[in-house]
Amino acid sequence: MKTVTTVAELRSLLDDARRQQHRIGFVPTMGYLHAGHLSLIERAAAECDTVVTSIFVNPLQFAPGEDLEAYPRDPEGDSAKAREAGTDVLFVPEEAEMFPDGRAAVRTTVHVEGLSAAMEGASRRTHFGGVCTIVAKLFNVVGECRAYFGEKDYQQLVIVRQMARDLSFPVEVVGCPIVREPDGLAMSSRNVYLTPDERAEAPVLRRALLAGAAAIRDGMTDAAEVKELMASMIDAAPYARLDYVEVADPDTLEPQDVATTTSRLFGAVRFGRARLIDNVGVGG
Ligand code: PAJ
Repeated sequence: MKTVTTVAELRSLLDDARRQQHRIGFVPTMGYLHAGHLSLIERAAAECDTVVTSIFVNPLQFAPGEDLEAYPRDPEGDSAKAREAGTDVLFVPEEAEMFPDGRAAVRTTVHVEGLSAAMEGASRRTHFGGVCTIVAKLFNVVGECRAYFGEKDYQQLVIVRQMARDLSFPVEVVGCPIVREPDGLAMSSRNVYLTPDERAEAPVLRRALLAGAAAIRDGMTDAAEVKELMASMIDAAPYARLDYVEVADPDTLEPQDVATTTSRLFGAVRFGRARLIDNVGVGG
């Protein structure tokens, strides 16, 4: 594995790889890698010839007061895990490399209309603009590739796929299933914020979403009723503070009044310092 910190080095390595007809796989991350991230790298390694993993804690997607400064970091551990999972090129730019004139000087941003308004976009108004802007930059640096994103951040996946289509990025966006802890909690770098008591309670989010899905499969069609069922389970957990639960169309992310077996269920819950998100398909 080669580790590079500059755009120029990365472009030059990838030019070489493309000259050898390599298929490029790209896994953008903010580091503190866990098995969820590694599943994306492994999938990229299985499907591509050269795998680029990027680690950059993107300041643009954190609002003031969010956890940018506290965001967990482990450069050495990340490097070993990324290599082990099949990364060929690890791209770890400093902030000055991504924003040569400082991030305050950035005047060009990318916004995906509509899809960014609900759920995470409603709770974190500037978040997806920051995500899209950095992902667009990274796509421009990496160039033609398959880019792997987790369904853990389902709304992000749908938005990035739309952005790639709308702006003609030569990038095929690939969605990958959520990797979970044995008790069902979706793996997340932010789980490290949970106290032992909060950690013990955190799987309630997934359990509530699964209960909602089961109710829909059993014939509950009123989305308000489904949301009430999920919210009441979360509210019953003493450490949990519900942000939202939603029943939405899996493609447009539009909130639905009528739940069906193609709906997707979403939730966000605060546990102390941690804000956790999850989603499940209804299936059946
Ligand atoms: P980060 O939260 O580090 O996640 C990087 C990628 O790993 C995302 O595609 C995310 O959905 C995926 N991922 C995280 N936890 C997962 C899990 N438990 N199972 C499967 N995949 C999981 O998402 C970001 O970083 C940033 O917004 C980024 C796209 C890098 C832009 O800054």
